[in-house]
Amino acid sequence: MFQSLTAPPPDAILQVMQLFRDDPRPEKVDLGVGVYRDDAGHTPVMRAVKAAESYILQSQETKSYTALAGDPAYHAAMADLLLAGALPSERIAAAAATGGTGAVRLAMELIRTANPDATVWISNPTWPNHTLLAKFVGLKQATYRYYNAAEGALDRQGMMADLGGAKPGDVVLLHGCCHNPTGADFTAQDWAAMADFLAERDLTPFIDIAYQGFGANVEADAAGLRLLVDRLPRVLIAASAAKNFGLYRERAGICLVTCPEGERAAIQSTLAGLNRASISFPPDHGARVVTTVLTDPAMKADWLEELDGMRSRIAGLRKSLAGALRQETGSDRFGFLAAQQGMFSVLGGSEAQIARLRDEFAVYVVGGGRLNIAGLTEDSVPRVAKALATVLDE
Ligand SMILES: Cc1ncc(COP(=O)(O)O)c(C=O)c1O
Repeated sequence: MFQSLTAPPPDAILQVMQLFRDDPRPEKVDLGVGVYRDDAGHTPVMRAVKAAESYILQSQETKSYTALAGDPAYHAAMADLLLAGALPSERIAAAAATGGTGAVRLAMELIRTANPDATVWISNPTWPNHTLLAKFVGLKQATYRYYNAAEGALDRQGMMADLGGAKPGDVVLLHGCCHNPTGADFTAQDWAAMADFLAERDLTPFIDIAYQGFGANVEADAAGLRLLVDRLPRVLIAASAAKNFGLYRERAGICLVTCPEGERAAIQSTLAGLNRASISFPPDHGARVVTTVLTDPAMKADWLEELDGMRSRIAGLRKSLAGALRQETGSDRFGFLAAQQGMFSVLGGSEAQIARLRDEFAVYVVGGGRLNIAGLTEDSVPRVAKALATVLDE
């Protein structure tokens, strides 16, 4: 039965990870994989997460199943983090998911169940899993221009021109903050204009927010999302706790849907039914850690402090890299790096240039020139800047 199978194309990021592991050069720098790293190159377990885990270890009395949609306390804690009480709970349906990826998938399955004719509009470029998941869920998809690489800035005109092709009932997928891979985010005005546009055309926003707290702070990073929730009757949200809680492997995510009160019960039971048909019960450990941290004032304060340190480290490295590139190239061509947000930016570059960065300079970036700023250290910045300037600025 498997004779017809062919191997899917290898995942570009996983390939880079493997090449990096196999590289014996001690000075190698991994700017490929999308995890936060500290100055020592570690992806730490956050202090508040350790505290919550030790509290859970002491106090947990059962590991029996939770509920198909996960623990309501987790829904409430995440709704509070994301929406800060912007809506009453009667207008929020929620289901725990297997990470942000699982949440995106669940939201897409909900869209397909509710309106199989809907097209999901996805930014170009985007996190590659968006297109992959939409394909596997069987949703129609279209792309909209998002980024002007030559200017290192949003392509507002292109975006609105492309989204002009959306029909009522379609869904527009937006990154809540720290756009992956470009690092170029909406301003408050962009969010307000988008809210008007979506409302006028009867389009539903779908916000993927995987980096809340990595941009400016947890509140500001959710401001666009909150504005849409305030202005539009229905918003789909997929959130991940992988990055901001450092819970990558625990697979903590959530799908929230804000809706008119009368629609909530049907959405809630559909989400539970979709979980039933794929994973039955969602994983609980990461979700419980998140709930514990967010509902304990001391743990929450410590989490916010550590998260703020991670954010400042990334912002500092952005400035250092932009400054070093200014010196190397004598131009402000890469100045956008300092203004962008989150872990990623794209520098462009052909496949040959990416290979040269790797082979000649031991600098690993993903195809298209996406780099994970958190993979830098203040020590490696000058060397990486030299490599980037040599290879990309020729
Ligand atoms: C934009 C975006 N959404 C969602 C995710 C999902 O994260 P996870 O499934 O690890 O929670 C990621 C992770 O890289 C991402 O970049």
